[in-house]
Amino acid sequence: RMSLDTIDKTIQNAQTQLTLYAAFAIVAMIVTSLLFLYRTVHKPVRGLMQGTREISAGNLEYKIPIHSQDELGILADSFNKMTISLKSVMEENQRWSQELEKRVEEKTEQLKKIHEQILQIEKMASLGKLSATVAHELNNPLEGILTYSKLIIKQLRKNLESEDTRKQINEELEVIIRETERCGNIVKNLLLFSKKQTGEFTLAPLKEIVSKSLQLVQHHFRIANIKVKEIYENENMMVLCDANQLEQALIALFVNSAEAMPDGGTITIETFCEPDKNKTYIRITDTGIGISAEDLPHIFEPFYTTKKSGKGVGLGLSVVYGIIERHGGTISAVSTIGRGTSITITLPTCREHEKQNDGTSPSKKGI
Ligand SMILES: Nc1ncnc2c1ncn2[C@@H]1O[C@H](COP(=O)(O)OP(=O)(O)OP(=O)(O)O)[C@@H](O)[C@H]1O
Ligand SMILES: [Mg+2]
Repeated sequence: RMSLDTIDKTIQNAQTQLTLYAAFAIVAMIVTSLLFLYRTVHKPVRGLMQGTREISAGNLEYKIPIHSQDELGILADSFNKMTISLKSVMEENQRWSQELEKRVEEKTEQLKKIHEQILQIEKMASLGKLSATVAHELNNPLEGILTYSKLIIKQLRKNLESEDTRKQINEELEVIIRETERCGNIVKNLLLFSKKQTGEFTLAPLKEIVSKSLQLVQHHFRIANIKVKEIYENENMMVLCDANQLEQALIALFVNSAEAMPDGGTITIETFCEPDKNKTYIRITDTGIGISAEDLPHIFEPFYTTKKSGKGVGLGLSVVYGIIERHGGTISAVSTIGRGTSITITLPTCREHEKQNDGTSPSKKGI
C-alpha cells in the first residue's frame, strides 16, 4: 500500500521535473531564436551597414555578400545593383568633366590667340596713328629749319656787310635753333612715352618729391607771378615710387598750370592719405583758364594740345598718365572754364615715415 505521502512526493517530483523541462525548453527556444535572428537578420543587416560605409567612403567596388533569398537577401542584391549603376554614373560624370575641362582648355587657348591678335592689331593701329602724328609733328619744325637754312645761304651769297642782313641772319638762326629744340623735345618725349620699364621703386618721402619738383619750376612761377600753396595732411607720408619719374610727372603738371595762368594766379598742392583704402592722393589745383568740356576727355591723349603751334606738343599729360599707370595709380581732372583746373593723382600706398633707431632710413616693412 502506498501511503499518501509517497504519492504526494511522486507528484511533487513530477511537477519539479516538468517545470525544469519547461524552463529548459524555453531557454532552448530563446537561444535558438536568438541564433536564428543573428543569422537571418543581424548578419545581413551588418553586411548592409558595412556596404553603406564602404560606399560612402568611395569604394564602389564593394559587393555585399548574399547569403539568403529572403527580403534581406533581395535588399542586399538591389544594394549591389545600385552600387554598380552608381559606379557607371560616376564614371560617366568623370568622363564628362574631363571632356569639359579639355574643351575649356581649348577655348581658353583660342581666346588667348584672339586676344593676342587683337593686341597686335591695336598695336599696329596705334603705331600707325602715332607714326602719322609724329611725322606731322616733326615735319613742321623741319620744314622751318630747311626754309631758314636755305634763306641764310642765299643771304650769305649776297651780302654779309650790311648790318640788316646780319641781324636777319641772326634771327633766322634763332628760329632754326628753336625748331631744332622742338624736334629734340618731341623725340625725347616720345622715347619717354614708349619706355615701359621703370627704374627701381622705393619708398620715398612724398613731401621731398613735391618740394624738389617745385624747386625746378620755381623760376617759371616767379616770372609768371604765380603763388604756391603747399598743404600736407601729414609731412611724413611715404609713397612707393620711382622718385625721378614722379618728379617728372609733377613738373609736367606744374608747367601746364603755369601755362594756364599767364597773368598770374595760385597753384595749390595738397597731399593726403586714406589709410583704410591704402591710397595716397596728390592734388594740384590752379586758378588758370580751365579746360572746356570738349577738350577734357582728350587731354591725356598723346599729341592732344590746345596750345598754339610751337608752344605745346601735347605729350606732357600722356607721359604723366603713363608714369602714374606704371605706379599702379590713377589720374583724373576736373575743370571749370575761366576758374581753374584740378588734377588728382592717386597712388596705391599709404604709409608713414617711421623713424628707425638711427633715425635716418625709413622703414620698408610691409610693402
Ligand atoms: N592746368 C591746365 N589748365 C588748363 N588746361 C590744361 C591744363 N593742363 C592741361 N591742359 C590742357 O590739356 C592739353 C594737353 O596737355 P599736355 O600737357 O598733354 O600738352 P601741352 O601742354 O599742350 O603740350 P606739352 O606738355 O607737350 O608741351 C593742353 O593743351 C591744355 O589744353
Ligand atoms: Mg603740357
